[in-house]
Amino acid sequence: MRILGIESSCDETAASVVEDGERVLSSIVASQMTTHGKYGGVVPELASREHLRAIVPVVREALAQSATRLEDLSAIAVTVGPGLVGSLLVGLTYAKSLSFARSIPLIAINHIEGHIHAVVLEAKRAGTPVQYPALALVVSGGHTHLFEVREGFHYRLLGKTRDDAAGEAFDKVAKLLGYPYPGGPVIDRLAPHGDPSAVRFTFAKMKGNALDFSFSGLKTAVLRWVEAHGMADEIAARRALQRAFPEAAIEQWLAASPPRTLDLLASFQHAVIHELLTRAAACAQEIDAQTLIVSGGVACNSGLRAAAQAARLPYPVLFPTPGLSTDNAAMIAAAAFPKLYRRDFAELDLTAQANLTLA
Ligand code: KG4
Ligand code: ZN
Repeated sequence: MRILGIESSCDETAASVVEDGERVLSSIVASQMTTHGKYGGVVPELASREHLRAIVPVVREALAQSATRLEDLSAIAVTVGPGLVGSLLVGLTYAKSLSFARSIPLIAINHIEGHIHAVVLEAKRAGTPVQYPALALVVSGGHTHLFEVREGFHYRLLGKTRDDAAGEAFDKVAKLLGYPYPGGPVIDRLAPHGDPSAVRFTFAKMKGNALDFSFSGLKTAVLRWVEAHGMADEIAARRALQRAFPEAAIEQWLAASPPRTLDLLASFQHAVIHELLTRAAACAQEIDAQTLIVSGGVACNSGLRAAAQAARLPYPVLFPTPGLSTDNAAMIAAAAFPKLYRRDFAELDLTAQANLTLA
């Protein structure tokens, strides 16, 4: 059984064909990074326009690469939320039109559930299916959430960020220091060149749910540190580098980063990783988790992957391969298989839900 997945919730237009919930036959992702890069973040109007431009060729390519005809599809899965409403509408409208024109069942998918299924899919493919209950840490530009995942894909929200998402913190700190967007991958590459114990960042104790996250205080602490250390000139030099070389290589960023700045980046990344892993581990213990799933764009972070391995947790910690960590449509198609078996189909009056929650 083949499902076509379509994803357009933020700044990636993606389509994928997945077979039997475990074989990714194609996964096409058209990134809008260069469009938004010069603005230092996603511009919603531009995102919708880029999705409109990309959606038809991206879906066509996903079908062609997997040698799939529309009549071979058991369903079309599409992201309905959460995300930018204008962006979501492009994928959703296209999926609905295709579903209606070819009488193919439509399945609505929550983007966050998609991120969790990126791991479920690969674990199944590897012959070592996820053991439940699992704890899922979804860390991306828009979300930092902890969910209990029970057999049959029942979710319970255990903690979430009160303010910025972890990926957003990476992006904002990078921007403040004059590095390009998105900041996560740049900081990831530069951090190993600095000393993670050079700057001590502390997190405020959470009132209420002790498992909630907060990253805005950390961002402010970085700002204060920058102000106290007279870094205006080097930041201006990096902004000039960005303007002159929008696609500058990591070596150029490294050359434009004095040792104390590399120390600051390493310390910031260390603080984020420590915060994510200690809360996830506490949460996993609380629910007696058999697996820890880490997914979303920040799951690409090599420091986070290394720290999760080094922590020697008493259950397997599963990350998706990098291509399935950031936004993609294979995870959307994968999340639709359990719904296909239950014949949990959507009606054509389905609408985009910008603030959709998972639990
Ligand atoms: O999952 P994703 O592609 O989109 C959302 O659903 O938000 O995640 C994008 C986020 C961005 O904030 C980006 O900076 C972050 O993931 N990211 C990383 C890395 N790669 C992407 N953060 C830290 N380290 C990375 N290697
Ligand atoms: Zn995402």
